[in-house]
Amino acid sequence: MFSKLFGKKAPPKVVLEPSGTTFEVGKNKTVLESALELGIAFPHDCTVGTCGSCRSRLVSGKVDAITPFGYTLSREELQGGYILACQAVPESDLVIEVDLPSADEAPAQTTGRIVESIDLTHDIRKITWQVDAPLRYRAGQYMNVSWPGSPGHRSYSFSAKPSADGSGRVSAFIRKVPGGAFTEPLFADSFAATEFVIEAPHGGFWLRDGDGPILLVGGGSGLSPLMSLLEDAVARGVARDAVLLFGGRGARDLYCIDEIAAIGAQWKGRFDFWPVLSEEAVDGMRHGMVTQEIPAAIAQLGGSQGLQAYMCGPPPMIDAAVAVLTGGGVGLSAIYYDKFTDASTLR
Ligand SMILES: Cc1cc2nc3c(=O)[nH]c(=O)nc-3n(C[C@H](O)[C@H](O)[C@H](O)COP(=O)(O)OP(=O)(O)OC[C@H]3O[C@@H](n4cnc5c(N)ncnc54)[C@H](O)[C@@H]3O)c2cc1C
Ligand code: FES
Repeated sequence: MFSKLFGKKAPPKVVLEPSGTTFEVGKNKTVLESALELGIAFPHDCTVGTCGSCRSRLVSGKVDAITPFGYTLSREELQGGYILACQAVPESDLVIEVDLPSADEAPAQTTGRIVESIDLTHDIRKITWQVDAPLRYRAGQYMNVSWPGSPGHRSYSFSAKPSADGSGRVSAFIRKVPGGAFTEPLFADSFAATEFVIEAPHGGFWLRDGDGPILLVGGGSGLSPLMSLLEDAVARGVARDAVLLFGGRGARDLYCIDEIAAIGAQWKGRFDFWPVLSEEAVDGMRHGMVTQEIPAAIAQLGGSQGLQAYMCGPPPMIDAAVAVLTGGGVGLSAIYYDKFTDASTLR
């Protein structure tokens, strides 16, 4: 009777910018759930609010959060209107800003085996898989790997630039996590005969177009996608000034020094590599937290105007870096990152 009198409430409508993709969200569903049901390639991974892959900006409208966005997003991102689409239930029509991948960038699965394992530091290895069908990805993106009996998939960022016809060998820099379901047996060489399922591409971490300078910040195995991105930028002749900040505890945490020097030698603009050590003072190297050097790097790059920042590594490093960058005048829409979350991040 009431629905006859007042009419049935229309389901909330979502417009995604800049693509203009429009869809309705079902009752009690999240923005992400409804988008995926309709075949819209909304970026996502964990679907439970921990990885940040579905981070997008609410331009207008109101949402209710199933779990508070603040577990994963920084204070600056919350103030900037960012939400997690996998946790957002619309309370009104919405306009959301998000980069949608094109149809030919949909993730594909193949199988593969580990064919090479090289120690890079005391706790990081470069692992290479030979895959049974070429995988396409953009430099900076990541793959999801699983193996028989694995507790879900694990994500690893490609460490090399993609080849033009898809990559038959894929590699990542992987840090040993004590007690880790994947990395403990990996570092014990227990996966020699294992057939993995590998799915890619994932994520929205890649070098955006622009003329402005680039600031890259990595910690630990977070150098993996930064090397991929830089290698690819060299191959494409990108001519933008860049500073690569890399944080470790001591000199034994530094790696890929020769490869970074080779990138610097071929780079078309100005290229600076600043290793920063937090627990060891080494002559000629910066000492402290890597994020403390961000203001100096912004100054080195001529200020925040047109600057884009690219960061990968531990979630606390990313959160601290976002705060310093925004404090230094870099807009949130010019900050791109992948947080290397693991099972300990799950609530
Ligand atoms: C987008 C993305 C890209 C990534 N890229 C890389 C990369 O290039 N290189 C890299 O090294 N890593 C990367 N990671 C991290 C990687 O996916 C794994 O999370 C990491 O390697 C740990 O996996 P694991 O199976 O060894 O450990 P996990 O099994 O995930 O365990 C991690 C830690 O959590 C503890 N733990 C397990 N279960 C729980 C629980 N229920 N509650 C509390 N603690 C728990 C474990 O004891 C261990 O200490 C990335 C992550 C993301 C999201
Ligand atoms: S898919 Fe939303 S936070 Fe991971």
